[in-house]
Amino acid sequence: MQLLGFHDYRHQAQRLADALGVEYRQVGVHHFPDGESKVTLPTQLDDELIICRSLDHPNSKLIELYMTCVTARRQGVKKITLVAPYLCYMRQDKAFHPGEAVSQRIIGHWLGELFDRVITVDPHLHRVHDLRQVIPGAETVVLSAAGLMADFLARRPNPPVLMGPDSESEQWVRQIAERDGLEWRVAQKQRHGDHRVEIQLPDCDFNGRVVVIVDDVASTGRTIAQTAKALKQAGAQTVNCLITHPLFAEDTEQVLANACITHVWSTDSINHSSNVIQLDGLLAEALSR
Ligand code: R5P
Repeated sequence: MQLLGFHDYRHQAQRLADALGVEYRQVGVHHFPDGESKVTLPTQLDDELIICRSLDHPNSKLIELYMTCVTARRQGVKKITLVAPYLCYMRQDKAFHPGEAVSQRIIGHWLGELFDRVITVDPHLHRVHDLRQVIPGAETVVLSAAGLMADFLARRPNPPVLMGPDSESEQWVRQIAERDGLEWRVAQKQRHGDHRVEIQLPDCDFNGRVVVIVDDVASTGRTIAQTAKALKQAGAQTVNCLITHPLFAEDTEQVLANACITHVWSTDSINHSSNVIQLDGLLAEALSR
């Protein structure tokens, strides 16, 4: 078995190959001036392949994955597993307005036709709870970083209060907090567009407390920033945040810094300077099983 990676996620993919004891090979990608991609695969491929690439900023990555997969099949590869620690297009899980495409279903079905197995970490499943419904054509494996996040927080000096910014985050906040008996709360969020978020804190005395905001995704950072500002106004002494998938789509670092967040921590599901938790052990264990 070989593991194929791409330049943008090569350190994590290489670590995963090392943890599995398999050969790491890199897919070459050339971007033409007009935005088209050319992918070049190694010529000697085994019957079974793992392709490891995180799917943040997904549009060109999906096209490149498609070309990689089709080319590998044409070279005779029989079984292909996609390891995508961040799985894209999971948030649009219904048509909120007439005519809207349900991206989750469309992309999920497509991945199911391409791959035999898809492994991911804490996908954003809200109204649809089971990844098998999203990717019906493939075997699916859903891993959670919650245990590693709890381990990380357990190594910090003072036990914090954990805060989920919205009801969707409760599944992770509860799991992390309950393992070590940490206090936890969930706020209410109203989103009025990409950049306008309103947060209402639950009833709790945050005065002088150390709070860690836990969320699966930080994209514009507005959700975490508004939560942090509300916590500071409520008297919290220190506000940090712990994110599974640091998308950091725009000026997110600045937005979080302006909200007086002391530490921004994340897993390496997406390559970012805030990465403090490595997922290769978790992924390798699942692949070995
Ligand atoms: C949505 O429900 C997610 O859990 C995140 O809260 C959301 O995607 C964060 O987006 P942003 O950083 O743009 O506020």
